[in-house]
Amino acid sequence: MAEQVSSGSVDPDPAADDAAAPRPADRPLPPYPSSAGHPLLHTVHAMRDVFGFRERAMADHDLIRIKLLGPGDVYHLGHPDHFERVLLNDRERFRKSEDFRLTFEGGLVAVEGDAWRRQREVLQPLFSRDSLRDYADGMVEAVRRRRDHWQPGTRIDLAAETSDLTLDILFATLLGRKLAVDGDEEIRTAADRLQHWFTPTSYPLPTWIPTPARLRFKRGKRRLQSVADGLLDAAADDPPADPGEADDLLSLLVALRESGVESEALTDDRLRDQVVTMIFAGHDTTATAIAFAFYALARYPEVRERFHAEVDALDGQPTVADLDALDVTERVVTETLRLFPPVYTIPREATTDVVVDGYRIPEGATTWLTVDRVHRDPRFYDDPDTFRPGRWATDLRERLPDFAYAPFGGGPRACIGRQFALMEAQLALATIGRDYHLAWPDDRTDDGPPRRLGMTTRMEPGTTVRVVER
Ligand code: HEM
Repeated sequence: MAEQVSSGSVDPDPAADDAAAPRPADRPLPPYPSSAGHPLLHTVHAMRDVFGFRERAMADHDLIRIKLLGPGDVYHLGHPDHFERVLLNDRERFRKSEDFRLTFEGGLVAVEGDAWRRQREVLQPLFSRDSLRDYADGMVEAVRRRRDHWQPGTRIDLAAETSDLTLDILFATLLGRKLAVDGDEEIRTAADRLQHWFTPTSYPLPTWIPTPARLRFKRGKRRLQSVADGLLDAAADDPPADPGEADDLLSLLVALRESGVESEALTDDRLRDQVVTMIFAGHDTTATAIAFAFYALARYPEVRERFHAEVDALDGQPTVADLDALDVTERVVTETLRLFPPVYTIPREATTDVVVDGYRIPEGATTWLTVDRVHRDPRFYDDPDTFRPGRWATDLRERLPDFAYAPFGGGPRACIGRQFALMEAQLALATIGRDYHLAWPDDRTDDGPPRRLGMTTRMEPGTTVRVVER
């Protein structure tokens, strides 16, 4: 990355401090960077290669404007100070964007204000330290069932297997139901289709164009909603008398509805939206993390050796009690989330004109916090493009500016499933790594990380690894 033109500094409200400062309305808009080519061609470049295009466009700037045919001007913010402001200090001026509402409707990830506060309070107990401990055995069992399904010597598709695995785990824990290792296709396909709204060849286009990806999204969303309705109906047959006795999401939601306490915050539609949100947010991101961790282990033999030595030293299958001893595994997960953040962009919408780095971001503008760019910024990370879990064994965490590592977002809207995901990824790596090495096939070239973009980053389908018994 070349020398930065912008300092990343932000002016909360310059006019308030300095009567002579220009009013927000008189400030210039951020530049369309020359490295991004003519603005009328931005859409084409973004459709071809989002990551490469963004990297070129932001090479010399922390704050830029990109013109996309559908969403219009999109303001990219790429400095940790921007993150701190948008997610924490000035969050009232940046609300969740239309894409969240379109996808998750009244679910936790999309709503604002009091409705959000109440929902977060109600759902938080499912992610408490005690609840997480209770999920650990179910997680390991689900990993073992899938691992035992693989034949040594054959190849598996990393994207498909990790997506199936994390859905198995989500159902076994939060949803209290065992999915068939080789079945339940209806649920698996529906859970996958929400991504299609964000397909790079469709998303930048005006929303009135019924692209095939958008039609798949609509069908998938309807299907997922009906799956959620079915799960809630089944849970309603035997609801716990008191919401405090509920031990999974479905029984909690049904008990709250039956008790009448939450009748406004949790109407039938809202209940369904929570289930849809958790099914999507709770499996897709973690699947990407696990897939890229195995990709990195396959590509970096010296890291793999240390990882295998650590899991071999465990006394049998991993349990929650082993987590503290899994330092290498933890660092592999941390570094994977740095280099391949599943949520590579955190979108918001400005609720009013806002001044950032002296530029105006107009009311209603789409703003994107570029997580992948901050995570690879040489101002914060040495040798940023290399997978080096060992960097986390130093005092790096203490030295990093706040929000320079933000795979789970930050501020009050940070991921509710963070600890769940970290525990799940570590247990999955350790459980699989004790018995198998997932090897990069000899006949396959590595043309760079096999990333595919949607709402989240995912591993390119068809990226296969060989299952090698250890
Ligand atoms: C490696 C895995 C994961 C990553 C990288 C991740 C990332 C994120 C990020 C960046 C946000 C903030 C979005 C924003 O500010 O707009 C978020 C929110 C959220 N995540 Fe995760 N997540 C992961 C796993 C999970 C899991 C396992 C669950 C549930 C079981 C979950 C449920 C949610 C929910 C419900 C929200 C919305 C929270 C709120 O708005 O209060 N996530 N996640």
